[in-house]
Amino acid sequence: MPRRVYIETLGCQMNVLDSELLAAALQEAGFELAGARRAADVVLFNTCSVRQHAEDKVYSALGRLKHLKDQRPGTIIGVLGCMAQKDCERIFRRAPHVDLVVGPGQISRVPELIERAAGGGGPHVALSADRSSGSRAEVAASFARADFAAPPSRPAAPQAMVRAMFGCDNFCTYCVVPSVRGPEQCRPAREIVAEVRRLAAGGCLEVTLLGQAVNQYADTSEGTTLQLSDLLGRLNEISGLRRIRFVTNHPKSMSDDLLAAVRDLDKVCPYLHVPAQSGSDAVLARMKRGYTAGFYRDMLRRIAETVPGAAATSDFIVGFCGETEADFEQTVDLVRKGRFKNSFIFKYSPRPGTPAAERYADDVPEEVKRRRNNELLAVQNAVSLEANKRFVGRRVEVLVEGPSKTARKRGQTGPLRQLSGRTACDRIVVFDGPTALAGQLVEVMIERAEPVTLFGRLY
Ligand code: SAH
Ligand code: SF4
Ligand code: F3S
Repeated sequence: MPRRVYIETLGCQMNVLDSELLAAALQEAGFELAGARRAADVVLFNTCSVRQHAEDKVYSALGRLKHLKDQRPGTIIGVLGCMAQKDCERIFRRAPHVDLVVGPGQISRVPELIERAAGGGGPHVALSADRSSGSRAEVAASFARADFAAPPSRPAAPQAMVRAMFGCDNFCTYCVVPSVRGPEQCRPAREIVAEVRRLAAGGCLEVTLLGQAVNQYADTSEGTTLQLSDLLGRLNEISGLRRIRFVTNHPKSMSDDLLAAVRDLDKVCPYLHVPAQSGSDAVLARMKRGYTAGFYRDMLRRIAETVPGAAATSDFIVGFCGETEADFEQTVDLVRKGRFKNSFIFKYSPRPGTPAAERYADDVPEEVKRRRNNELLAVQNAVSLEANKRFVGRRVEVLVEGPSKTARKRGQTGPLRQLSGRTACDRIVVFDGPTALAGQLVEVMIERAEPVTLFGRLY
């Protein structure tokens, strides 16, 4: 029987969470986790389709695994996640040695499908329904029914992600997520509170609620409608828990009651990821984002007024269909004036089947996309550095995550190392300290600032 499983994860936090839950379920079912592809009997890729680049990576890894499969025919290879849901046939055409293809709404079935694949007769496929294949309720059920309704117990950790919502109904024209993750569905608040209670009882200090547009959370399972602000209120009561985060927010749904909750609830972090995508009204309209740049700027103002000192962060797509130099300059201006803590910047990647790919030409040349990407990143870095410099000489509370990237790269060992952690407003802080501090909240005096990192010493 195959026993050792290696899971490789691409994509967003939703995929990272799915992989964590799957790893826990596999261990409960008697599997072991392997540290590398070559050390495993089962190699699983949890994939992302949001940009072409993410898909290319998986196809080239699958190509390399052909050898492994030739040498050890018993090896089971699985493609899970968003790409599986989107491109099942293409995966088998390009990589006939794949044994399992499992969509993101069916991940909980993976342990059983591995057993079946080991018994021969394959390939095995588990996908959720296509969005256009049935009623909304039928399609939604095909995603939610196979989720971990009673999540397997994950190893105790100081930080944990918790699913608040499945799917997305916003249908931004460039985006593949609504089709691969299915209809928007909210997990009942009761279940979320119970899971967070369990995590906190196991020593978890910080939870991050996940949803593609988590501020559109609305649970009707208790007879009334519970909004995200209500859910945060309930979670704030959980003893032992110290920090609550939630991602990602949609600008059009950043309500006053949510901002008031962030201001008033002591455990809710003053950190708001609210992707703008563009600063141009024409581009936003073609993206079907449902707001104008002016509305977005007003929203930033409301955040700053209600929660002074809150860190707002954003995502931007450069080189979207028809984006002119003047459109791009409006995005640059938004980044300059928006004062985001940081922004993730992506070059537009057309996704076949999305409205943008069908309606508009991908007419911004690659080198222009690259130039705009670099230019916007440089502006954001300058903004980030200026904001970070204000922390020099201040004491901040840091949840220690473990050895810093540098410490890991240099292979530092011993009880005293360079550690890294995050402030409540999600700033990365690096300092020297005993490794035993991992998972604890400590005070750090900031001495130096870079665009994405603050450096300091234990206070
Ligand atoms: N639900 C979240 C995140 C979606 S995917 C949200 O609405 O913000 C994360 C980011 O990937 C998006 O915010 C967007 O900036 C980027 N993205 C999505 N589709 C893309 C595409 N086709 N090309 C380039 N970037 C894309
Ligand atoms: Fe994609 Fe828009 Fe939904 Fe985000 S809100 S997942 S960008 S469709
Ligand atoms: Fe990618 Fe799926 Fe997340 S497409 S960004 S892994 S929801």
